[in-house]
Amino acid sequence: MKKIITYGTFDLLHYGHINLLKRAKALGEYLIVALSTNEFNETKGKKCYFSYNERKTLLESIRFVDLVIPENNWEQKINDVHEFKIDTFVMGSDWEGKFDFLRTYCEVVYLNRTPEISTTKIKQDLGYC
Ligand code: CTP
Repeated sequence: MKKIITYGTFDLLHYGHINLLKRAKALGEYLIVALSTNEFNETKGKKCYFSYNERKTLLESIRFVDLVIPENNWEQKINDVHEFKIDTFVMGSDWEGKFDFLRTYCEVVYLNRTPEISTTKIKQDLGYC
């Protein structure tokens, strides 16, 4: 069974996220989402609207997603790839090249972002930030 992993915050879940998850799942049979915790996001200066558990529940209800695990730090990726026997690491094209060091351990794929939608844009349009 080909296993895929992707990482992200997935706050205010939107169609760009769904599009990414759908294409990630289509690369294999089992999709793991490593979901950034609020604590990890704070270290990046990123504030979530939904809690970790709310974001996790939303992701778990998507048919393309098989398992949600926490993303606690930048360094866990190599360990995750080993622990979950990952074949393919997937990220959106905004991360192009950033995780090429993982090619030693698995396939690395960057998928084109869906244009004109992001959590930041939704927050800005609604006057949340
Ligand atoms: N993503 C995508 N297309 C979009 C928005 C996001 O493919 N329009 C992908 C990202 O490239 C990433 C994943 O979805 O692989 C999770 O992205 P995340 O950063 O959580 O979502 P954004 O909407 O980009 O959030 P923000 O504006 O806070 O960066």
